[in-house]
Order: sequence, then C-alpha cells, then structure tokens
Amino acid sequence: MMNVFCYVESKMLTMMLHDYFSKASITSQFFDKEYLKVHGLDLSKPDFVVVDMTLFTIENSELVQIVKENFGYSTDLIVLTEEVERSDNRSSEVFYVSATSRMELADGFNEAIEIRKENLIKLHDEFNEIKKKKRVLVVDDSELHHEHLKNIFMNTEFELEHAFNGEEAIALVNRDVPSLIITDFEMPKMNGVELCSAIRKTKYGYALPIILGTSYTSETIQRDTFNAGADDFICKPFVKEELLNKVNSYFGKDKRIEKILIVDDSEMIRKILQHALVKIGYTVIEAKDGVEGYNSACKYKPDIIVTDLTMDKMSGYEMIEKIRQTPAISETPCLVVSSMSTEYDKKLAEKLGISKYFVKPFKVDYLLLEIEHLFLEKYRELALENEFLLDTINTLICALEARDKYTQGHSERVTRYACLIAEKMNLDENEIKIIEAASKLHDIGKIGIRDELLLKPSKLSELEFNLIKNHTIIGKSILGASKTFREVVPIMYYHHERVDGKGYPEGLSGEDIPLGARIIAVADSFDAMTSNRPYRNNLCVDRALKILIDNVDTQFCRKCVEAFLLINPERLNRIKMGLE
Ligand SMILES: [Fe+2]
Repeated sequence: MMNVFCYVESKMLTMMLHDYFSKASITSQFFDKEYLKVHGLDLSKPDFVVVDMTLFTIENSELVQIVKENFGYSTDLIVLTEEVERSDNRSSEVFYVSATSRMELADGFNEAIEIRKENLIKLHDEFNEIKKKKRVLVVDDSELHHEHLKNIFMNTEFELEHAFNGEEAIALVNRDVPSLIITDFEMPKMNGVELCSAIRKTKYGYALPIILGTSYTSETIQRDTFNAGADDFICKPFVKEELLNKVNSYFGKDKRIEKILIVDDSEMIRKILQHALVKIGYTVIEAKDGVEGYNSACKYKPDIIVTDLTMDKMSGYEMIEKIRQTPAISETPCLVVSSMSTEYDKKLAEKLGISKYFVKPFKVDYLLLEIEHLFLEKYRELALENEFLLDTINTLICALEARDKYTQGHSERVTRYACLIAEKMNLDENEIKIIEAASKLHDIGKIGIRDELLLKPSKLSELEFNLIKNHTIIGKSILGASKTFREVVPIMYYHHERVDGKGYPEGLSGEDIPLGARIIAVADSFDAMTSNRPYRNNLCVDRALKILIDNVDTQFCRKCVEAFLLINPERLNRIKMGLE
C-alpha cells in the first residue's frame, strides 16, 4: 500500500487527492520542523509528501529541505500552489500541482489533475449559485429543536427547510440542493455521521457545508464527525450568537469580533493555525515568542491565547505566569500546543490554569473545537451575567427614583438619548450595551446624598453643590467592587467631566474622558435642560440643542454633539414627553 503524508486544507483538494491516491493510506496531519526533527523517524516512511504551499509563507526550498532531511532523500514531495499560467483569469480558483526541482511526479498525476481542474471550475461556479440562495436545511428528529432553530433564524436573510430524518434530508438534497446543512447527531435509522457520508456522495455533496450538532462529551463522536467529512460542529444546546456566527462565516459575512492570539516560534505552525482560524472568521494576532506574546496580549486583549511552551526569550510558562499577574488580561483562557508531553509539564500547565493542553502533532480540528467550546461557555456566562446585571440595575434605579420624584424617568430618558448617540456613532453592539447600563446607573451615587440636599426645592449653594458632586465618587464606591460592572464604572464615574478639563471628579479633558462618559454628558445635560426641575421650567428641544452646540469643545465633545444632532428632533421630543 502506498503511504502518503499530506498537509492540505482545501476540501476539494483533499477529495481529489483521496481519489487520486485511492489505494493509499493518507495521513493528513499537522507537522512542523521541530516535530519532524523529533518524530520524523517514528513515522513510516511515506512515498509522497503533499503540502499545500498556499498555507505557508516559507520558501519552497526550506520546505524541501525539511522534508528531505526528515523523510529521506528519496521521498517525493508534491507542492500545491496557486501560481497558474493560464490566460482565462481563473488562476485564483484553480489549484496547480507541481513538483519541486529534482523530483519526478508519479506517472499520470499531472494528467489526472488537469482533467479534475476543469471539472472543479465548473462545479465551483455552480456551487456559488447554490450558495446565493441562502437556504439552510435543518435535520433533526425533534420537533422542539426545529422550533428552536426557527426562533434563532427569525428575521435573518436565511430560509429554513426542515427534515426529520436522514432519508428525508437526502431526498431534499437530491431534489434541490440547499446552501448549508445543520444536522443533529443522534437520530433514529441514520445518525448525523452516516448522513454526512451519504450527502458527500450526492452531486454537490462534496462542497456543501455541513454543521453537525455534537454533545462535546465524546471524543469518538468528534473523530467520526470529522472522518465523515462534517465541516464544522457546534455544541448542543445551540446558542443563537454562536450558531449565527458559524452560519454567517460560511457566507463570508459578519466577521466575528473574537480575537485569538497565537504565540509560537514556528512560522509554519502560526500559519497553519492562522489559516484555520481566519477561515472560520476569527481575527488572529501572531507573536513569535513569549515577550512578543505578552506585549500583544496587553495591547490587543485577545479572547483566547494559543501558545507553544519552548520559545526563545520567554517561554510559554513564563508568559502565562506574567499574564495571570496582569489584572486586565489575567483571566484570558490559554491553550497550550507543545511537543513536551511529560506529566510534569501537564501538572505545571494545570497550575497556571491552562484550559487545554495539546501535544504536537494534533488535529487542528480538535483545537478549533476547544476554542468553540470556550466561546460557548463565555456566551452562556455573559447571558447569565447580563440577566443579573439588568435585575440589579433596575432595583438600584427604583430605589433612587422612589426618593426623588423629579428624577423619575430621568435615567430612562438619558439612556434612550445615549443609546441613540452611540448608534449614530456606529459603535458596536457590545459597546452600546455597556453605555446603556452606564446611562441607567449614571446617577446611582445619589443614593448616598442626604434627602434635604437631593430634594431641596430651591437653588443649591456652592457648598451644597459640591456635596452633590460627590455622587460620582459614591457611585464608584457602590459599583466598583462588582466584577459585573467592571466596564460600566469608568463611564458612570466620569459623566460630569468636560472636554476643556473643567469638570469633575478628576478634571480629565478631551479624549482622556471615556467615550461613553462623553456621550452620557450630552444626553444628561439635554435631559436636564428639557425636563422640569424644582427651581426652573424646562426648555424646548430646539433651545436645548442650541445650548449643546454653543458649548461644543468646552463642555461637550464635538463628535458626540454632532451625532446627537443627527437624531430627528421629533423623536427627541417624543422621548422628552415620555411617548417613546
Ligand atoms: Fe450626574
């Protein structure tokens, strides 16, 4: 039997190679220079090594040397590149196969590839048409699950189709190919893995994205899933954001916001991981040693760090230890990929709170699954945290507004105005959520201000006003201890700062004041001017807007006022009147 060792990512290409080397045993795995040096001799000598060079930036000659040194000089290396000399401008869609110098290709290989290339182009075009339809086929034996997915996909551009077992799904695929399939694993008659295999045999099946819902617990299921050719997996029960992220990534939109930092001294490993992660939509930051890794972690605050252990300058252990001692990033989940596999290493990793330890060589898919799993946990924690946060905020606001009838509805209106400003400034969903919470809570420190001051019907003296100013400091001391309000506190604390530095509590100026606080300053002042206060009557919307404009660059941030002016004054009036 022929033995072929390959590193190829493209599904079409893998299938082509499987087809071509039909009688071969193909080992498709992750390898690097270091690994080959240590383990090269353990592998049974391959007849061919196939590498998709489009995944790497290293020179062909270096790769040839690595392979030759480790597999022996008689091993044939097949390098796959995208450099095609063709006149029809299809080069980027065509995989060209060439042998590096001094190596002969197997007889007939070139010819076989030529024929396939033509077929691939045609199928590729046809498949693009299928993709445009945005039809998602859901396969599950549970009625309830279909309902859950209907809810998830409600108000999206995708059209759902439903099948309740494998046979129904195949019939649907044969009749009219969907753009993507989401299937359950456990189903009577034909399970998800069997369904994957069957779909792969249909006309467009080789290129149809299949997401398999798996319960993370079983390694066998995971292995079967990949072997059957599922493109992706998702932990059950599904979480809306997670599933939509995945589906959208197949349609090349809505890039995920999660950032992953890869720290490894091997460029090859960094490229392999980067390629796999970027493909499913993550943003990847690379670092080649612990020092660079630590600096990047501080600068970019990644959501997950994947690191090697043995590296020059600073090892992975030292880097993680430093990260754990740095408050802003101390809780970042870290995954280790290392060739060191002693119990001592694993114990040390455990001590440093490492989420998972992968020994090289490993299946990239398993690493991806772990990353997905960590994000799923995070989503769930966030959902719980948000629920708790909202309850707490509402309780606190009720307590404050029950005392002071003049501020009733103030927090709510400020929140409406602030969120509208944030939307006009195109801030992302997460930032808007934080600003929303901070606006609701901006005056929470007034809980600690005495009744006779807070409720005084006449104008305040300077001394009294100075005491009221303490509400920002009191607010910080109330919420500051809670991790839940970590990102809310600075925005709340600085909402009385002015861009000219004449505000309080610290006299910050310009962009040193958090953006959320500058937004709330505008919203808060606008509401103060347009609502009734014990000592004066309210102003109309136009008059209040004029005052905001007059105080740009002194009291207010220009960008925030400009965004505020983009809101329809009619709408402002409705919010002011409590009609919206
Ligand atoms: Fe305030």
